[in-house]
Formats: sequence, structure tokens, C-alpha cells
Amino acid sequence: MNPLEELIAKRVGRFGPLPFDQVMDLALYHPELGFYATGGRPGRREGDFITSPEVGPLFGAVVAGALDRWWEEMGRPDPYVVVEAGAGTGMLARTVLLAEPACAKALRYVLVDRSAALRVEHGRALDLTPPPFGLGPSVLDADGLERPARVGVGPVVVSLGELPSLDRPVVVIANELLDNLAFRVLERTERRWQEVRVGIDADEVRLTEVLVPAEDDQVQLIAALAPGAPPGARVPVQDEAGRWLRRALHLAAPGGRVVAIDYAARTAELAARPVGDWLRTYVGQGRGGDPIERLGQQDITADVCIDQLARVRAPAVETSQADWLRSHGIDALVEDGRRVWTERAAVADLEALRARSRISESEALLDPTGLGAFTVLEWTA
Ligand SMILES: C[S@@+](CC[C@H](N)C(=O)[O-])C[C@H]1O[C@@H](n2cnc3c(N)ncnc32)[C@H](O)[C@@H]1O
Repeated sequence: MNPLEELIAKRVGRFGPLPFDQVMDLALYHPELGFYATGGRPGRREGDFITSPEVGPLFGAVVAGALDRWWEEMGRPDPYVVVEAGAGTGMLARTVLLAEPACAKALRYVLVDRSAALRVEHGRALDLTPPPFGLGPSVLDADGLERPARVGVGPVVVSLGELPSLDRPVVVIANELLDNLAFRVLERTERRWQEVRVGIDADEVRLTEVLVPAEDDQVQLIAALAPGAPPGARVPVQDEAGRWLRRALHLAAPGGRVVAIDYAARTAELAARPVGDWLRTYVGQGRGGDPIERLGQQDITADVCIDQLARVRAPAVETSQADWLRSHGIDALVEDGRRVWTERAAVADLEALRARSRISESEALLDPTGLGAFTVLEWTA
């Protein structure tokens, strides 16, 4: 057993078999031994898995356009606060700013990541302002209304370990965060739903799965969402994702919005698939092993259950990533890239190569069997 597994084994010795969410949380986020503390990260070269922002700058450019659209819809506030939750290496923030959105002068871009190691990356990649970040002192205008003392000072970029509390409408955006939040696992047996917990084998040398009767509220939830699940079916119970959505909606405040992009499905669909199909592990750009093996050394992730999130609040928008990117102008950006490449191909300078890269990036981002099939969910708060 590695040191994290030993720590988990000790807890099992004290408390009995642990729910999978507790084990997953430690495996990913233990401050010294967890996957994200020991070098686990998204990325093309050194990363363990690739995400849309890490494909290249095109995804951030489209998001920048969406931020501009929402800024206009909100009446061009200054400051305009965008909170990116689960910001990873900071690549989305970098590429959004690189695209020079019209809202930049008003922008307060807050990166939030639970991993201290990845927050260090934010400082490397971006010019950060230390928190608590100045939304700035306010002054009273002629009508006695509070106005910011300074406008047009953006972009101000801040990195935090958790969601802030703010008193204004906010756009909260999260790419591939929810799939990484810890969940419990239930299994349908012949007679009932049971919970998959993590115990230790008789020789006390290996962590192993243990089935225990599932708690009533979980059985009720899953029986309602996956009534026809056959014996042997497994499903996740994603309470932590629901709690995060509640906090994000509260932060967004009336007039704001929450946007989550992820691989997603409905609970009944997952019940019909083999568990290894929706509960996956990744390491070094490849699939990892069993989720309770190599704890702390591989990413653990699951498809996000849209119907479980909808119990917190039904999303106003549910669409594929491909359609969302198209509705926010990816085709025009790619066309632009194609034009520049045609004009400058003979020179083959950096601008020409960047322009050409848009074409291959768009193919990856729109791929109907890959990133393009991800789901974009939007809630208006
Ligand atoms: C799969 S990575 C995605 C990173 C980035 N959004 C991207 O698309 O490349 C998930 C990230 O969420 C972070 N994370 C997990 N739980 C979090 C939480 N409760 N609040 C903020 N960040 C969290 C992890 O540390 C990790 O960096």
C-alpha cells in the first residue's frame, strides 16, 4: 500500500468501510498525498488528461466572446466579475485574456482552485492581484447610489482556494469541475440497492470493495431516477456536485449565471452502462486502473448526472459543447484563421501557424465523439 492507502486503511480500521466519496476526496485532494497535490494536472504535454482549454487558445477565444455577450446583456457592469471554478492550470483564464474581450477593462477574473499546487501555476501564468481583491472603494453619485470609485482598471485577475462571497451579479463558469467532485456509488443487487464502500481484505494488505445496505434517502433518489436498473447496475450519487451548484447559484446572485461544461448523462443511462464506462481513471494521458487502486496517483472522474443537478435547479440551457461553441461564434473564428493561413502560408510565421492551429483545434473541440459531445449547462440565477 502507498502512504495514502495506508492512511485510508487506518481510517477503515477505526470507522469501518468508508463511503467512496470520502476515499475519492482523499485520493484527489489530500493536501500532501492527493493526485492534485502531487503533480496531477490537465495539459497536452505534462498533463494526465486533455481538457478543452488545454487543446489551444480557440476555446478561450470563444468563451471570451460569450463573456462579452453576457456583459452586454447585464448592462455592461464595471466591475464585471467572472469566477472560474476548478480553474486547473489557469489556461482558460490566459486564453480568455489573450483574446482581448471587449469587457476586459471592466473584468475581474477570479480563478478558484482547491489545489494549492495548481494555484501556484496561476501565479506563473498570470499577473495576479493579491486577494482580497479590490472591487474597489465606492462613492455616492448625485442620486445617492453607490458607484465604484474607479472604473476601466481591468482586467484584474485573482486566484483563490474557494468560491468568494460577493454582493453583485457574477458569471460562474466551470469546465470539467463537476466530474471531479466526490460521489458515492450504489449497486443494484437482486433484492435491493446497496452502497459500495471501501474496506480492507482479511490479510489487511489491500483495500477492497464492501457492499453495505444503502441509506434510505439515497435509495429513494436512485429508485426514482433509475427505476429499471438491472441487477449488477451501478450509479453515482453526486451530492457534492449538487452542493457546489447551490453555492454557485447563491454566488451568481440574481442577474448572474452559472455555466458548467462537462461529460454528462442521466442517472438511468449510467445504470445501463458498465461501471468502467462512466467511472473512469486517468494518468499520463491514458486510462488508469481500478478506482480503488493506486490511490492518489490517478485521476478519478465520472459522467455528471444532469437529472441529479436538476433537483437543485433545472438548467435553463442544456446543449452539446459543439452547438454551444457554434452559437458563440467558433465558425467565424475558424474562418478567420483559415483566411489568415491562406494569406500567410508562404511566410509561415507565428501568426500563420496560430491561424492554422485554429482549424485543428476546432476539429478537436467540435468532435461529436469527443469534446464536442460534452454537455453545456447554464443556469440563470
Ligand atoms: C479536471 S480539472 C479541470 C481543470 C480546468 N477547468 C480545465 O478544464 O483544464 C478539475 C479541477 O477542479 C479543481 N477542483 C476540485 N474541486 C474543487 C472545488 N471544490 N473548488 C475549486 N476547484 C476544485 C481541481 O483541483 C482541478 O484543478
